[in-house]
Amino acid sequence: MFDGVAKRYDLTNTVLSFAQDRRWRRRTRDALALKAGQRVLDVAAGTGVSTAELAKSGARAVASDFSLGMLRAGARRGYRRHLPFVAADALHLPFADACFDAVTISFGLRNIVDVPAALVEFRRVTKPGGRLVICEFSTPVIPGFRQLYLNYLMRLLPVLARRVSSNPAAYVYLAESIRSWPDQQELARTVVAAGWTDVHWRNLSGGIVALHRADRPV
Ligand SMILES: C[S@@+](CC[C@H](N)C(=O)[O-])C[C@H]1O[C@@H](n2cnc3c(N)ncnc32)[C@H](O)[C@@H]1O
Repeated sequence: MFDGVAKRYDLTNTVLSFAQDRRWRRRTRDALALKAGQRVLDVAAGTGVSTAELAKSGARAVASDFSLGMLRAGARRGYRRHLPFVAADALHLPFADACFDAVTISFGLRNIVDVPAALVEFRRVTKPGGRLVICEFSTPVIPGFRQLYLNYLMRLLPVLARRVSSNPAAYVYLAESIRSWPDQQELARTVVAAGWTDVHWRNLSGGIVALHRADRPV
């Protein structure tokens, strides 16, 4: 499915989110608080649009994804060519234990078939004391706004996607997967169950997106 949307993936995101995606990516970088030279793994990085934002911090950011179509679309963009793109399944990462200062995933966790196993795998490759930041769609916290947003997701988003995306059917899946994704609290519980500590979250755009941050115990 992601191979099929790769060509116009970045543009479609920006249109469907009314350009909010750029702010969400900056907030993800802030939450990671990376220092120059640290190593960060961006899982399910797709075209590397999320990774390029992380690299601005001076950290060594690695983009990994299992869709070759997405990786190739990213590597074709001139300014992302310097990024290390690695073809990898999030459930079986080709990295040694404890080799990253931080692991992050933006709009990818929802698509992984076994979320608890993925969170355990992310912990394995993170150094003790290192951190995890998950940027993912979530549940708007104001009831009236939540209804409005659900209407947008289920009715308007598929119409817009038909105009901009190279595979509009994928955006029907997007709307449905967001609707059935756990809310902030439930995701936090899943992160704790995978062995992470000090889990907390911050809502962005009224809870359309949530940033969950956690530490790997020392
Ligand atoms: C919505 S895109 C997110 C891309 C990028 N992180 C961003 O912020 O725009 C989700 C990505 O998850 C990837 N993905 C889903 N399951 C995966 C898995 N098990 N291993 C690696 N990548 C996976 C897909 O290939 C896709 O590129």
